[in-house]
Amino acid sequence: MKKILIFASGNGSNFEAIVKYFLNKDLKIELLCNIDEAGVLKRAKNLNIKSHLVRFAQTYNFLADKKFDLYVLAGYMRILPRGILNFGTFINIHPSLLPQFKGADAIKRAFMSGVKETGVSVHYVSEEVDSGEIIAQQKCKIEPDMTLQDLENKIHQIEHCLYPKVIEGLL
Ligand code: GRF
Repeated sequence: MKKILIFASGNGSNFEAIVKYFLNKDLKIELLCNIDEAGVLKRAKNLNIKSHLVRFAQTYNFLADKKFDLYVLAGYMRILPRGILNFGTFINIHPSLLPQFKGADAIKRAFMSGVKETGVSVHYVSEEVDSGEIIAQQKCKIEPDMTLQDLENKIHQIEHCLYPKVIEGLL
């Protein structure tokens, strides 16, 4: 059976969407979280997913004696060095049409900038933030009557559909 490790530091809505997508499929999922109070840990418990609370400084040692088919970043708030990326294939999801709006607050910055569309990107992880080769993108129109909250909701919906399918394709 294939195994993936999801890295997350926060809310974990993408984590949950991935877990639910693969519920009746043959895939083992584990969680690596670096923040004690992250909401994603509670979600993992409720969904019966094995979670590992691993400080960033311990991440290399944690991964060194394990093997996963894919390493999936979903709101993991640290930059991974080359030594860690060499353990396998790492992918990330970002809420913009990369290379536009790299980094934090991408949805808000797109909204404030006045662009007419933004979107979601899934990409391979490189040492530079939000810069690896793009695997998939989905656009999202910014309608004139939309609030920032509307846009955030729409972007997250797109993420929750797109990410599991990309993962399935890569596996
Ligand atoms: C998502 O918007 C993702 O694109 C970005 O971080 C956010 C994580 O959200 N990398 P969640 O924790 O999955 O709800």
